[in-house]
Amino acid sequence: MQEWPEPIVRVQSLSESGTGNIPERFIKPPSEREAAQLVPEMTKSIPVIDVGGLANEKYTYSEETMRAISNACEEWGFFQLVNHGVSKDVMEKAREVWREFFHLPMEEKEVYSNSPTNYEGYGSRVGVEKDATLDWSDYFFLHLLPENQRNYNEWPNLPTSLRKMTEKYGNEVVKLCMFLMEMLSMSLGLDKGYIREAFGGDDNGACLRVCFYPKCPQPDLTLGLSAHSDPGGFTVLLADENVPGLEVRKGDSWVTVQPLPGAFIVNIADQIQVLSNGTFKSVEHRVQVNSRKERLSMALFFNPKGDVPIGPAEQLLSPEKPALYPHNITFNQYRQFIRQKGLHGKYQVESLKAIVTDMEDDDAVMGGGSGKKRMRWTPELRECFERAVDQLGGPDRATPKGILKTMSVPGLTIAHVKSYLQKYRMSKFIPESSDGGKLEGRKFSEILPNFSSTSRVQITEALQSHMEGQLGLEDQLEASFLDI
Ligand code: OGA
Ligand code: NI
Repeated sequence: MQEWPEPIVRVQSLSESGTGNIPERFIKPPSEREAAQLVPEMTKSIPVIDVGGLANEKYTYSEETMRAISNACEEWGFFQLVNHGVSKDVMEKAREVWREFFHLPMEEKEVYSNSPTNYEGYGSRVGVEKDATLDWSDYFFLHLLPENQRNYNEWPNLPTSLRKMTEKYGNEVVKLCMFLMEMLSMSLGLDKGYIREAFGGDDNGACLRVCFYPKCPQPDLTLGLSAHSDPGGFTVLLADENVPGLEVRKGDSWVTVQPLPGAFIVNIADQIQVLSNGTFKSVEHRVQVNSRKERLSMALFFNPKGDVPIGPAEQLLSPEKPALYPHNITFNQYRQFIRQKGLHGKYQVESLKAIVTDMEDDDAVMGGGSGKKRMRWTPELRECFERAVDQLGGPDRATPKGILKTMSVPGLTIAHVKSYLQKYRMSKFIPESSDGGKLEGRKFSEILPNFSSTSRVQITEALQSHMEGQLGLEDQLEASFLDI
């Protein structure tokens, strides 16, 4: 898949056209736009953590700081970081060059227009689903790490200081990320170097996404960024100090983040939720836009190396706390979902729970072999499956291959889909047969002729596999096959 499904329209151009009505494509269903609700005073804002970072990089590793971090990551999945050691001057200048970039004439920016293959460049959507609802923002996405993916030619050459400033900013924030990895590891009760090692040692990834939210004439109808959790390890966000917009989910409500001057907003993303076996939460967040002021923010995503499998840390597992997530999904595999489907709340990381690796096969799985995997068909996964089947024309016409592609859930295999489809067809075509005992030759032969010959073969196969081992009924089954 190389191109976007529809011509790209820059949100900034729409905004500058002076239209009073936003195009239909940007209008969100009411359920997605509910305003931030009033929340009790106590839970009004995300925690603030001071790590005492000085210019000489002496960070505080005190018990107290670690407790504060683990509380924040368990309760909110978000915190503000102050005294983080990144130079204020570099932060301000980086923000300034990117603001200048977004205010260049459109032709200058279009040179860097991105595609869904790796998203690098100037973009206006996430996901390649045709007719998807769009978000009110443009962005620039680039790779900082691993070093061999850093391609300066893909970064804007205007304003002239942008590349240098972005490099400087990236290096400083990455240094902070090294410290954060240690803090997060220790806060989980793991060795200081655990996350770094699990994320691929020196080869971990980092990307920068500069988000630009133009003024919007009808801000109540849309969102700057739909609700999502970040797919990677964790995120260090330099939010717009003057224009609020970021909202974090707290239970059933959304809490607006009020960035402190000079602070970073740090949030746990899906891979750390998986690594911590759900202790640290990758929390949903979204962005509101407004009609008076544009907003610019810079999100640095710190990620595992693309091809190392990420799973729950062994030290955090026990008979009482079994692994909630599989061990064999790499970040490259995981990221495919968001890149194809766009932002969908916490759907993706929750669906991972459906994939259970048999413990005795862990070594094989972790070694990249093909260990046996079972699927647990959670309600979310079933819903996704059913949607895919509908999209493909119903159980009669959908093929396992088509379903697998449409679902695009990491770790899901053709074998998983095949066996579930068989059961699904049975339940759809012959509801009475869910209890094998009720299957009678008469009923079977009554129903079957209503289907095409391909379906008949598939149903028959499904029935055979369902009936396997159920002695006594086999004879009945055989008798009914003769009836067809
Ligand atoms: C993101 C994000 C928040 C913001 O890019 O993933 O959540 O304030 N950005 O722009
Ligand atoms: Ni995000």
